[in-house]
Amino acid sequence: MSHAVNSENPMSVLTEAARTVQQRAWAPYSKFRVGAALESTEGKVFTGCNVENASYPAGICAERGALASAIASGARAFVRVVIVSDADTPAPPCGMCRQALVEFAPALEVVSITTGGQTARWSLADLLPFPFTPSSLAHA
Ligand code: THU
Repeated sequence: MSHAVNSENPMSVLTEAARTVQQRAWAPYSKFRVGAALESTEGKVFTGCNVENASYPAGICAERGALASAIASGARAFVRVVIVSDADTPAPPCGMCRQALVEFAPALEVVSITTGGQTARWSLADLLPFPFTPSSLAHA
């Protein structure tokens, strides 16, 4: 799903979108529901939630769900992602999601919010130093 960000207050649009999609998470095993809202450089918002599976490794994180939706819609570059979870402290994205996101947005702003409203911000560049990127394949 995508919609335009309100340029006057992009954070509130992204936070609301992440909160809404978090409610749709399928997390019967971990009971840890996550919502993510990814903003493209063109100002569109793409959302994803975690989708778990009885075969545990088949589950997917909220961030990669949002990214897949965005790429399928034709977006290719991103400004920020807002993540909402029920954790006590703001949860940073997992390693696999950091790697997935760095392919398209090395300077992504990562904002994580608890359902209680605590917020943390990082740069993806800080969360994933020395990333493996498309240029790492240059001599393959
Ligand atoms: N999860 C996410 O959706 N995003 C993250 O960045 C961390 C973890 C999900 C995966 C799994 O469904 C649940 O949270 C517990 O790990």
